[in-house]
Amino acid sequence: MSINGEIARKADAEFATDDLKFSVDGAAWGFVERAYLMLNKPAGYECSQAPKHWPSVYSLLPTPLTTRPTKSSVNGVQAVGRLDQDTTGMLLLSDDGQFIHHMASPKHHVPKMYVVTTKHAVDDAAISALLAGVVLNDDPEAVAAVACERVNETQIHLTLTEGKYHQVKRMLAAVGNRVEALHRSQIGGLKLDPDLAEGRWRWLTADDLAKING
Ligand code: URA
Repeated sequence: MSINGEIARKADAEFATDDLKFSVDGAAWGFVERAYLMLNKPAGYECSQAPKHWPSVYSLLPTPLTTRPTKSSVNGVQAVGRLDQDTTGMLLLSDDGQFIHHMASPKHHVPKMYVVTTKHAVDDAAISALLAGVVLNDDPEAVAAVACERVNETQIHLTLTEGKYHQVKRMLAAVGNRVEALHRSQIGGLKLDPDLAEGRWRWLTADDLAKING
């Protein structure tokens, strides 16, 4: 690693962060106090630091992001909620513990939009049931989608504010259907960047961060 053009030899050396330029393994990095990023998650990756059957989404990020020491309580970036191994689309990651907590908290009702491809046609009764609330097997309280629109016979846009385990798959199972493909396209007002190829990440801008809660 080199800092302001000098090879860094002391791990505990301190630097002013204004205009700090450094490079890791020859790649230039700008300094950011907190890291906020969006990853276009491909299928076949687990959102876990210790994956069991598939490679980890963290292997898609450069090492300085996954191991960087910070003043916050988390070490390196962490996924803001998890997507299943076979789910694709927008995954946010950050090393800001407060941001992660805020986004994950059901109290804050940050909507997440999914494009759901189903095995069987989704009829009006199923859409009404998803909007009215369905009971999942681990919780007597019904969970309801905040929006559900049909794209075609076997595809819907489903918007949820909670993030329960396998929630979309279990909600569709509760109305007698099955999820064939699941893609998260939007969180709050922030859409997955169409220029971000699968498996690639980018920093979130201040504008992006405002859109999430806006
Ligand atoms: N709901 C699911 O069932 N899976 C996901 O990955 C996300 C939401």
